[in-house]
Amino acid sequence: MKKMVILMFIFLSVLDGYTQSCDFAGTALLPDDIDTSVVRPDSSRPYALVAGGSKGIGYALAEALAKRKYNLILIARHLDSLQAAKQKLESAYAIHVEILTHDLSKEESATEIAEWCIERNIRLKVLCNVAGHGGPRDYLLTSLDTLRYMVRLNVESMMALTLTLLPLLERNAPSYILNVASMAGFAPIPIKNLYSATKSAVVFFSYSLRYQLKKKHISVSCLCPGPVFTKPEVRRETEKRFGWFGKKMAVSPKRVGEIAVKKTLKGRLIIVPGTLAKVVSTLLRGLPRRTVTSLYAKAGD
Ligand SMILES: NC(=O)c1ccc[n+]([C@@H]2O[C@H](COP(=O)([O-])OP(=O)(O)OC[C@H]3O[C@@H](n4cnc5c(N)ncnc54)[C@H](OP(=O)(O)O)[C@@H]3O)[C@@H](O)[C@H]2O)c1
Repeated sequence: MKKMVILMFIFLSVLDGYTQSCDFAGTALLPDDIDTSVVRPDSSRPYALVAGGSKGIGYALAEALAKRKYNLILIARHLDSLQAAKQKLESAYAIHVEILTHDLSKEESATEIAEWCIERNIRLKVLCNVAGHGGPRDYLLTSLDTLRYMVRLNVESMMALTLTLLPLLERNAPSYILNVASMAGFAPIPIKNLYSATKSAVVFFSYSLRYQLKKKHISVSCLCPGPVFTKPEVRRETEKRFGWFGKKMAVSPKRVGEIAVKKTLKGRLIIVPGTLAKVVSTLLRGLPRRTVTSLYAKAGD
C-alpha cells in the first residue's frame, strides 16, 4: 500500500510533463473569457462540427465551444434532442446552430455531411468525433451485428468524417480535430474486448494523424476520459465494477467538455480530465499489458 502511494505521488508529479509533451502550439481562435452577453448570432463566425453533439459529452463539448462563440453543426440520429440542444445553445450563447440527423454508422453519412458543408462553404475550424458505442454486456454474448455497428461507429465514422472534412479544415487552418476515445483505449479490457480495441484505434489514429497534419496547421487531439456519468447505466456499471474508487474517478460531462475544449484549442494531444483519472491512465499505460488485462478481468467479474 505504502509503495502504491509513493508510486502515485511520482506519477502525479510527472503528469504535467505527460500531458504537455506534445509540441503543437495551436492558437486558440477566441479567448476563453469572452463576454457573450451582448453578441448577436453571426453566421460568418467559424463553425465547429460535433458528431454526436445532442447529448452527453458531445453536448458538453458543444456548449464549451458555444461559450467561445463558435457556431455549431450538431449531428445525431434523433431530431428531438438535436432541436432541444439547438434551442438551449442559441438562446444561451447567441450563436448559430445547424442540426443534421444522420446515423453515423452508415457508410454514406460522412460523405453526405461533408458535401453539405462544402456546398455551403462552411468556415469549419473544429471537428469533434464523439459518437461511440460501448455497452455493459460481455461481448462474447453480443450479436455480430451489434459488434459490427460498434466498429463502424467508433472507428469508421471517425476516420471517414476526418478524411472527408479535411479539405475544409485545411482551408480554414489553423484548425482542430478532437477525437473522443476513452481510458479504455489504453489497455485491453477482457469483458469489453472490442470497445477497448476500437478506442485504442482512435488513440493510435490520432497520434499518427497529428504528425501528418502538423504542416497543414491542423492540430489533432484525443480525449480519453475515465467514467463520465452521462446516463444512469454508466453510473451503475462504474459503481458495480469499481465501487467508491470509480465514483471518485468520475468527472461530470460539463467539466469534461470544458477541459477538452480548452486543451484542444491549446493544441494538446492526449486529454484525460480529472486528477485521479490521469493517475490511473498513466498507470495503465506504464504497466505491462498482461498485468493490466488481468486487473481488468478481476474488476469485470
Ligand atoms: N460516458 C462515459 O463514461 C465515457 C467514458 C469514456 C469515453 N466515452 C466516449 O464518449 C463518447 C460519448 O459518450 P456519451 O456517454 O456522452 O454518450 P451519450 O450520452 O449516449 O451521447 C451520444 C451522442 O452521440 C449520438 N449518437 C449515438 N449514436 C449515434 C449514431 N449512430 N449516429 C449519430 N449519432 C449518434 C447521440 O444522439 P442520438 O442517440 O440521437 O443518435 C448523442 O448525441 C463515446 O464515444 C464514448 O465511447 C464515454
